[in-house]
Amino acid sequence: GALDVVWEIDSTSSELQRRGAAAPDLSVVIAETQSAGRGRRGRTWLSPPGLNLYLSCLKRFDGGFASLTGLSLAVGVIVMRALGALGLCDAGLKWPNDVLTPDGKLAGILVELSGEYQGPCAAVIGIGLNLRLTDALRQQAGQPISDLATLAGGEAPDRNRVAAALITALCEGLDQFDRQGFAGFVDDYASHDLLRGAPLRVQGPQAQWDGVGAGVDARGALCVRTEEGLQSFDSADVSVRRA
Ligand code: ATP
Ligand code: BTN
Repeated sequence: GALDVVWEIDSTSSELQRRGAAAPDLSVVIAETQSAGRGRRGRTWLSPPGLNLYLSCLKRFDGGFASLTGLSLAVGVIVMRALGALGLCDAGLKWPNDVLTPDGKLAGILVELSGEYQGPCAAVIGIGLNLRLTDALRQQAGQPISDLATLAGGEAPDRNRVAAALITALCEGLDQFDRQGFAGFVDDYASHDLLRGAPLRVQGPQAQWDGVGAGVDARGALCVRTEEGLQSFDSADVSVRRA
């Protein structure tokens, strides 16, 4: 696929969306800094230059949206594999799409789909991964955040090594997802799942639920044991935090 490394852009994911049909499969855009980096639901992704990695990848699928359930969780597993290849294992996954260390949020994943429900479609997969944070950045984030330097206990691995590990894991992992869907990732997800067995509060637009994390199902929905029994939640509908 095409590989673009640019100094500044609004958002690497927006860039791939603009290219749309013109972008070859497995196109990757990396930016040194983003002027409008975004997270889920219009939230801001802090994207200063020089420290971190902001990368998006466009992947085409033939089976339509229907075949892509669980893709954003699979990408979490893919990021964990890339970290593992760098010798960094002390991180885990917070459903649906965060990579956390004991200190806070290390990476965020944003998967956006376009195309048809049944038929050709494309996913733009955006990954923001912190290598080195400043105190100013920690203060700007609305939650505890973390970086590879802390995870590695000193210096972060070289940024090109991290980018290479991430791109390798993406190319291999997205091929695997194309062949096997989320089923091929369920066991790996479970081994990194930080919410299993944890007391949780699930927040929906109108209601909230308290319970204990019970893993994810074959569709990637979050399962929670509540007073009313076992419930499952779709990532489009709710936010979850440890209670
Ligand atoms: P949810 O579980 O609903 O996804 P979330 O709070 O993690 O909740 P996201 O939209 O996934 O929300 O991520 C955006 C949030 O990530 C921001 O509101 C901010 O708190 C945090 N954030 C922003 N920039 C960074 C960064 N560079 N590193 C880590 N975290 C960041
Ligand atoms: C989240 O946790 O909500 C997801 C954050 C995703 C951030 C990455 S950085 C590269 C790509 N470009 C963006 O604007 N967002 C994603």
